[in-house]
Amino acid sequence: MGKTALITGITGQDGAYLAEYLIKKGYTVHGIKRRASLFNTDRIDHLYQDPQLDNRNLILHYGDMTDSLNITNIIGDVKPDEIYNLAAQSHVKVSFDTPEYTANVDGLGTLRILEAVRLLGLTEKSRIYQASTSELYGLVQEIPQKETTPFYPRSPYAVAKMYAYWITVNYREAYNMFACNGILFNHESPLRGETFVTRKVTRALSRIALGIQNDIYMGNLSSKRDWGHAKDYIKAMYLILQQDAPDDYVIATGVTTTIRDFITMAFKEIGVTVAFKGDGANETGEIVSIDEAVFGTKIGETYLAPLKKRLGEKIIKVDPKYFRPTEVELLIGDATKARTKLSWEPQYTLETLIKDMMQSDVKEMKKEAYLKEGGYRILNYFE
Ligand code: NAP
Ligand code: GDD
Repeated sequence: MGKTALITGITGQDGAYLAEYLIKKGYTVHGIKRRASLFNTDRIDHLYQDPQLDNRNLILHYGDMTDSLNITNIIGDVKPDEIYNLAAQSHVKVSFDTPEYTANVDGLGTLRILEAVRLLGLTEKSRIYQASTSELYGLVQEIPQKETTPFYPRSPYAVAKMYAYWITVNYREAYNMFACNGILFNHESPLRGETFVTRKVTRALSRIALGIQNDIYMGNLSSKRDWGHAKDYIKAMYLILQQDAPDDYVIATGVTTTIRDFITMAFKEIGVTVAFKGDGANETGEIVSIDEAVFGTKIGETYLAPLKKRLGEKIIKVDPKYFRPTEVELLIGDATKARTKLSWEPQYTLETLIKDMMQSDVKEMKKEAYLKEGGYRILNYFE
């Protein structure tokens, strides 16, 4: 008999990769999905199985992290061997607009999972993974950050996640539960939500290259992040729950990069060189040269001439509306403990992550460019 896992946040970036990974390992995966006016299952559609089929290995349940009865009922029905609590209002900037909701989902939501397991008498059976975050380090007290580095959260999101971190530790110590925190640094992929900085950039640069977007407005270009690939990071989540004893682990690459350099690298991937001028809200970026052979291969010859006309134009601009009331300026993790104890080793570098994201977004945006061109031709025809 394979194991049973329950994933909250299964429709998100990490939930989708983790579900696929666990199914390949022979798990039956249950996922909690919010009711929405659209399906919102794009990331897991390839795993979906008709509810009428016998022996399904992916089963979805309607639910919400704010509903204790719902969470308790699902855990009571599924009796999972492993629970991966990935559900969260995960956008740091949005947490300043919705602080109470963020606290409810990201903080109390974790308590609801832990309490359900305890009340249902599943403490011996169900192991729990809590999606903790490098945002806990906020105004960093040590460089690089590791498991023993003190926390200094800088957003309602991080403060809510701080409660979740400590309630997980507390239930482990108070009730002897197998409950663990993965303190994951930023991880990205082609499935990353479109409003996180890396995906916003890879989508926009693809669209600019294809001539369907003029420019991109950014927030703080100088903050630094330690970016890995989500495919590597979900493997760490799994490993954390396979150990003999529960513990907390930092998962990171140990390389940190500014947002500005991420943009430069993403443009470089398609043969475009950019230069930045000015600072703060007045900083701008412009295209200074194009490697025609690379651009031709990766984007297409037909898009070269229109982009060449834009050399020297300010295509990257700053809009202070994207600044955060309190910013996390620098994150860089030390994952020695995970590398040693879990034998966790990331396969992707920042370069291969960017390549993966740019390839995927260029492919995606080409469909849009094609439709736009087609639409234009049809319009001409009727004129
Ligand atoms: P994500 O793409 O934003 O996915 C979040 C998931 O949570 C989605 O499935 C979302 O459902 C679900 N969710 C949100 N509010 C919910 C609610 N009230 N009830 C039930 N489900 C709800 O996030 P991610 O990047 O995969 O991250 C997964 C987890 O790791 C999150 O807890 C995040 O805070 C944490 N984390 C992420 C990173 C990172 O760099 N990606 C780093 C450290 C920690 P919808 O699809 O319906 O919105
Ligand atoms: N989103 C966004 N949009 N961020 C921008 C922009 C922009 O236009 N311009 C600059 N930034 C900066 C932000 O100010 C921040 O310093 C950095 O880019 C990264 O922002 P996000 O990609 O939104 O991620 P995050 O680091 O705030 O949070 C992500 O990583 C955390 C782990 O450290 C999220 O996935 C969190 O859920 C996760 O816990």
